[in-house]
Amino acid sequence: MSEPSAPLATQDARGGFGSRLGFILAASGSAVGLGNLWKFPYAAYANGGGGGNEQGAGSFVLIYLLAVLLVGLPIMLAEILIGRRTRRNPVGAFKALSPGTPWKLVGALGVFTGFLLLSYYNVVAGWTVEYAVKSVGGEFSARTSEVGDSDLRDRLWSDFRATPDSLAQLPAPPAPTSALLTPAAAWAQFAAAHPAAYAELEAELRAELWQAFILDPDFAALSATLRKEILPGKLFNEFLASPLRQVGWALFFMCLSVGVVIAGVARGIERWTKILMPLLFILLIVLLVRMLTLEGAGPALAFLFVPRAGQLCSASLLAALGQAFFSLSLGMGAIITYGSYLTRRTNIAAAACAVTLMDTMIAIIAAIIIFAAIFSYGLVMQDGGAGNLFTAIPVIFMKIPGGTYLCVVFYVLIMFAALTSTISLLETVVSYFIDERGWSRRKATTAVGAAVFAVGLPSALSFSVLADVQFFGRSWFEMADYLCSNWFLPLGGLLVALFVGWRMTAKELREELPPAQLPRLPFVLWRALLSYVAPAAVLVVMVGILVGAVQA
Ligand code: PHE
Repeated sequence: MSEPSAPLATQDARGGFGSRLGFILAASGSAVGLGNLWKFPYAAYANGGGGGNEQGAGSFVLIYLLAVLLVGLPIMLAEILIGRRTRRNPVGAFKALSPGTPWKLVGALGVFTGFLLLSYYNVVAGWTVEYAVKSVGGEFSARTSEVGDSDLRDRLWSDFRATPDSLAQLPAPPAPTSALLTPAAAWAQFAAAHPAAYAELEAELRAELWQAFILDPDFAALSATLRKEILPGKLFNEFLASPLRQVGWALFFMCLSVGVVIAGVARGIERWTKILMPLLFILLIVLLVRMLTLEGAGPALAFLFVPRAGQLCSASLLAALGQAFFSLSLGMGAIITYGSYLTRRTNIAAAACAVTLMDTMIAIIAAIIIFAAIFSYGLVMQDGGAGNLFTAIPVIFMKIPGGTYLCVVFYVLIMFAALTSTISLLETVVSYFIDERGWSRRKATTAVGAAVFAVGLPSALSFSVLADVQFFGRSWFEMADYLCSNWFLPLGGLLVALFVGWRMTAKELREELPPAQLPRLPFVLWRALLSYVAPAAVLVVMVGILVGAVQA
């Protein structure tokens, strides 16, 4: 951080995107990734139906959308602007815009966050490779026989408990305290109040259920489908519990990202993203249409989009806000870095809108697909739904003709979406070492890649050997994710908003955003959002959590 960056004008030798479309694709490539496909449905589940709150994720999704529009979009434009104006890595950018001030620490925070975020993101990226390979082998449909009777019994039992009728069979009424309590929650309450009676009852009912199932005339057909359906969940848990495979795929994925970043970001990514991003989008639309025709579609849409009062606590507010930053790649300088490869002619306001829209659409579509599958097929999500991209999706493909092949295509595309995001994370950290420390691209990339992989090891092992090592009730993996998405990214974004909103003059901003590109009214609105709304939103939520923590 000691060396000053080169003056603005001499940095034109920097690689650049060939076109505005090239930038939009690359930035969308960074934004669209596991954040949309894996984390958003999972966060909605954890902060809605799965996390002890049984009423659905409507409020969470609504807050998320508001956060994207009022906080994410303005900061997206601010980051692109900083990047293109300075043509630097995040630290160099703040140094150039505000020399001799501590603002460069915002860039440093970003580089640090990118480093930590990549360390666990890379682990989940490895999961996509495992699943691409698994689906080539047809493992989901081929290994039916391995789901034994005891799994089947568990499955029958949890399905039964989730049906409204099951309540009527309880001899002693479990007295649901509120009409809103789902059967599962009522059962839980009953179990807690009368453990012995509950255990006896459960054993009895389970046996009865199993007996009835065996005697069913459609037994053979029924058990074949049920066995298949629970297979993905079982496979996923086996995979999580294997330290070797977790570490192996993480290593593989890191090598992949290092390879691409050494080759230079702009050209390689631009070429591939042009083909693969639209393909992913098309496949998602196909799946969406298919899922909307199923009976679970209605409940899924209601679950996701009907907000209800009292669904949210300040922790889930922060999670929704953090998710917006995570999904849009904001708050750590990735977009500053990509913006630095952008040419002067580009209309960055239009680019910011395009990227934000694309990213949000994909997150919403992914969530609809996954929840429609959960509701249509009565899937039970374990571990707060952390694996739903890997447990719910295979079930969908098992039921589509030709699904085995489509499943391969799907996971390969997801793998690519993850890769375009890991690349942007790695590139941000690497560009700091190249620009500010004078390292060669090869040296910086290899060293950073190796260090990130090492720091990611405890994340890769968080589901097996290190599962019991907890930090404030979270595994290393969960803690890293919690800190990055809920705290560091929003904090970084807050500081970017304050910087552009308060430190940069209207004249400076207008040099990057002439009235032809952003008319007066939206310009004023944008500055107001940056100066007041975004910082206030982040601060209020954060302070709310801290105060709550102090009081607890
Ligand atoms: N936005 C990416 C995703 O949704 C993750 C990411 C976060 C990438 C921050 C870069 C910076 O998967």
